[in-house]
Amino acid sequence: MALLEVEGATVQFGGLTAVSDVSFTVEPGTVRALIGPNGAGKTTLFRAIARDEQLSRGSVRFRGEPIHQLTPNEVSRRGVRRTFQNGGLFGDLTALENVLTGLHIEIDSSLLGLVVGSKRSRASERAATRRARELLEMMGIGHVADQFARDLSGGQQRMVEIVRALATDPPLLLLDEPAVGLAPPVRLELLEIIRRLVETRGTAVLLIEHAIEFVMTVSDSIMVLNNGTLIAEGTPDEVRQNREVLEAYLGR
Ligand SMILES: Nc1ncnc2c1ncn2[C@@H]1O[C@H](COP(=O)(O)OP(=O)(O)OP(=O)(O)O)[C@@H](O)[C@H]1O
Ligand SMILES: [Mg+2]
Repeated sequence: MALLEVEGATVQFGGLTAVSDVSFTVEPGTVRALIGPNGAGKTTLFRAIARDEQLSRGSVRFRGEPIHQLTPNEVSRRGVRRTFQNGGLFGDLTALENVLTGLHIEIDSSLLGLVVGSKRSRASERAATRRARELLEMMGIGHVADQFARDLSGGQQRMVEIVRALATDPPLLLLDEPAVGLAPPVRLELLEIIRRLVETRGTAVLLIEHAIEFVMTVSDSIMVLNNGTLIAEGTPDEVRQNREVLEAYLGR
């Protein structure tokens, strides 16, 4: 069984069909990219999976269970974690605190979170803080852990967002244009981090990205969305040679 199964997903805004009858699956331990011109419906599809958007038709199943009627928080708790196209950090919190907000969903959902102020919850808080610091260090931004998010460079903010998303070791990561604003060496680092996650943790990654070389290098398979419809799907090499894809891109 696939980890994520999207079936006939359709999202309408008034008269506009932003996503039209899209079906695909994502397997554990793979990177699947979603590319396509501006306005193709990529972010809308992500938002529908994460439940920030309502499906007009279709279904989304995660580990075999329907998730398209859950709240965004419930989807996140099930293990579908995401980053946002336009940054989703709290500027007034430090990098470390931002990562902790990702971990707190887990803590709150357990009994521990209910025992406010107890020894056990303080212990779990300390463990979470330790893990957050470790992760930031692992991603090469340990030195900014205690700086406010708003004071970080664009690339550092991206990395903090990604650390927050993967802090709970989620089975599925949705990354919306993670390479935007990253300097080429940092891009390369991000690419290696994603591959390492996928290969060592079996994480599945669904990735929206315009940086085409990044996509070609990191992805196992690529889907192309144009005007809300999937027009192609295949390995990076197959997609590179697809005429319809070239037209969709050259046409913009
Ligand atoms: N909340 C909304 N209300 C109305 N229309 C919307 C809404 N959100 C998105 N759209 C429209 O849906 C279409 C798809 O937008 P979407 O943001 O999903 O595209 P995208 O593929 O992510 O583009 P980009 O590459 O520029 O990020 C666009 O025409 C957009 O204007
Ligand atoms: Mg988008």
